[in-house]
Amino acid sequence: MNASGKYSWQSLPAAQQPSWPDPEALRAAVDELSAFPPLVFAGECDQLRDRLAAVARGEAFLLQGGDCAETFDGVSAAQIDNKLKTLLQMAAVLTYAASVPVVKVGRIAGQYSKPRSNPTETRDGLELPVYRGDSVNGLAFTPESRRPDPERLKRMYHASAATLNLVRAFTTGGYADLRQVHAWNQDFVANSPAGQRYEQLAREIDDALAFMKACGVNPDAFHSVEFFSSHEALVLDYETALTRVDSRTGDLYDVSGHMVWIGERTRQLDGAHVEFASKVRNPIGVKLGPTTTADEALALIDRIDPGREPGRLTFITRMGTGQIRDRLPELVEKVTASGARPVWICDPMHGNTFSASSGHKTRRFDDILDEVKGFFEVHHALGTHPGGIHVELTGDDVTECVGGGDEVLVDHLHQRYESACDPRLNRSQSLDLAFQVAEMYRDY
Ligand code: PEP
Ligand code: CO
Repeated sequence: MNASGKYSWQSLPAAQQPSWPDPEALRAAVDELSAFPPLVFAGECDQLRDRLAAVARGEAFLLQGGDCAETFDGVSAAQIDNKLKTLLQMAAVLTYAASVPVVKVGRIAGQYSKPRSNPTETRDGLELPVYRGDSVNGLAFTPESRRPDPERLKRMYHASAATLNLVRAFTTGGYADLRQVHAWNQDFVANSPAGQRYEQLAREIDDALAFMKACGVNPDAFHSVEFFSSHEALVLDYETALTRVDSRTGDLYDVSGHMVWIGERTRQLDGAHVEFASKVRNPIGVKLGPTTTADEALALIDRIDPGREPGRLTFITRMGTGQIRDRLPELVEKVTASGARPVWICDPMHGNTFSASSGHKTRRFDDILDEVKGFFEVHHALGTHPGGIHVELTGDDVTECVGGGDEVLVDHLHQRYESACDPRLNRSQSLDLAFQVAEMYRDY
């Protein structure tokens, strides 16, 4: 902190911040948040950094996924349960079919804030502030709903706490026990092509478990699962209020989530977000879009990971299927030549969004798959490790992305389009992706 009691990042320009209409109300909310207990412990963040170090060394694979934007209405047992089942199923597929340990990180319990391309939106001649996520304002297009309200920052904290509580119960209370591998495959997904393929894999896992048990092997790792939370650290009033000094080491941690990332629109080297990321000890992600230069990537490493500590920094590339094979090689090559070993993962979602003829914002499953394929090809050619995937998904049977084995057509998009922001893979599309990524991983 400086003499005025501010952290270094608080005096730098911060992109994508809401214009809070009532500064007093903001201060009151931030004061309250600053006194709330941590959502995660520093030691858990360190543990995730260790796991990510294994990914950086090429010994594990990172699966990071969840909603584009969580919503307060979405904090229900059913929705959280479905999302977790989806991620657990995908992890089981990747672990078994690609024979690689999977580090599981949700875009969950904090993913409530959205960067936007324009500050306002106009409909029928009415111009209102754009929706910036439930942490800031409401999705409904009315002046009241779109007015940024700092009370929402407190709701975000409570929604995150409730979600994380259920996640912790699910993952340690027996539900994530590998013997439940069949139970995760219920509801609509069981009858989809990917669900049927999964059923076969679950039978094989059962046989393998029975065999190991008969041999006297039954480790704890089969009975609970390590699962971590993550979100984009976007609204700095919130993240700063949840930034605390670790009493063990004196280091700063953002205790709003285990891993936080910086988005494509807020990674300015002289901006507040990069400064914030450089000062907290959490594992940090940075999104890299197609305009990223190798010099920018190197400068980000110097700022955020000057000690070149494996697991500290994850580059999340989101180039688009048309650009991944052109844009990624130079970045990976120059970063590797510098001696840095960040985790490289592929976000095949954000470079592949387009408007369908129906007017819906959507993504093609085949584009998503092809970007991941390009990502594997580039890493294979350079001898580096394709460390994981970062996807927007839900456990529900939505129709937001087109394609997949249980094909969603453009004509279906209106049926269940529920995302508050970007289009997500539904459960069978997510499973489908996991099978195909497992094959790519095995083959490269
Ligand atoms: C996101 O992850 O939802 C997002 C906005 O991504 P990006 O910063 O890569 O555009
Ligand atoms: Co998104």
